[in-house]
Amino acid sequence: MTRSSAASPASRPVKISCRNLWKIYGTPPDRAMRPGQGPAAAEFARQLRAAGRVPALVDASFDVHEGEIFVIMGLSGSGKSTLIRCLTRLIDAEFGEVRLDGEDLLAATPKQLIDIRRHKMGMVFQNFGLMPHLSVLENVAYPLKLQGEAKPAREARARQMISLVGLDGREQALPSQLSGGQQQRVGIARSLAVEPDLWFLDEPFSALDPMIRRQMQDEFLDLQRRLHKTIVFITHDIAEACRLADRIAILRDGRIIQIGTPADLLLRPADDYVAEFTADISPASVIRVGDIARPGQEVAGARTVAGDLPVEALLTDIATGTTDFAVQPAGKYGGGGLTAARVLRILGRHGRQDDETAAG
Ligand SMILES: Nc1ncnc2c1ncn2[C@@H]1O[C@H](COP(=O)(O)OP(=O)(O)OP(=O)(O)O)[C@@H](O)[C@H]1O
Ligand SMILES: [Mg+2]
Repeated sequence: MTRSSAASPASRPVKISCRNLWKIYGTPPDRAMRPGQGPAAAEFARQLRAAGRVPALVDASFDVHEGEIFVIMGLSGSGKSTLIRCLTRLIDAEFGEVRLDGEDLLAATPKQLIDIRRHKMGMVFQNFGLMPHLSVLENVAYPLKLQGEAKPAREARARQMISLVGLDGREQALPSQLSGGQQQRVGIARSLAVEPDLWFLDEPFSALDPMIRRQMQDEFLDLQRRLHKTIVFITHDIAEACRLADRIAILRDGRIIQIGTPADLLLRPADDYVAEFTADISPASVIRVGDIARPGQEVAGARTVAGDLPVEALLTDIATGTTDFAVQPAGKYGGGGLTAARVLRILGRHGRQDDETAAG
């Protein structure tokens, strides 16, 4: 349903990556030192905290592939906005590296950075970041103005984007005349106006009420099916993360605890903290049939189902006596055999730390 139909994003080139990234607020550390990795990094972070500094990002490493929706998830203060600011170089990390299309972003000159931000990156800020003295139309058209686009063309494009986020008729309003959710949509429209390759969204839907929020999530996924952006999306809502993400990184006190698909987090949580996060999520709606199918174990005469279906789609069949399914690969989801007993066992046991994919 929600994903682009191409193969797994993991097989596509890396768009942006970071390695051993640290951001320390407070007195800057000696940059000549090497903070170490794994337990050494944890110990260094502990020492920094004891000394009254804030290690907001601790040894973070990951790759985001072209066309992927990579969600960063964590409680308030866990370092999510800091991470995005380091990836866009709005602030500078003390240690580590960031690569964009294979190029060292930390080596970019200020002029190159401005150019990259203007042409390659779109950003939706947590606090909207709108210009108060400009109308909705002018705010959305502003990045195009910076690109040197002529007024008629940029306003036409801005009107399209405003319509896309459902704000037709409000083009002349000032930000102060809009609700928080409406302002957030202006921020979304503005960030899309330049058609960025790489799109950063910091809690873009947090000011919306639940119904509009779900609508915006659907529209966002629909947009992504058409535009195939590379997206880094921040949220502290695990349900939103599971709906939108190809993969999710769970951040705690600046450290990445686990990176995985929504199904990975449910079926194989790295620790109790991750398990607690996902405890309220309905596994039947998040886990796809292809996540738990067993390759090479098809049974003759089994009912055929697509790998990208949520497991809940099988429950009616199971209730009416179907015992075996032949799962066909679909998009990034694989195929194989699947029994009703396995489906029920996994749904009954999700959240435990045993490896469900390996078990029965
Ligand atoms: N400029 C700053 N100076 C000092 N400490 C900071 C600064 N900015 C952020 N911090 C601290 O760094 C940590 C991470 O902050 P960050 O804004 O990245 O969190 P977050 O995960 O985005 O939280 P939220 O969900 O509330 O937006 C917090 O402890 C915060 O207090
Ligand atoms: Mg934040």
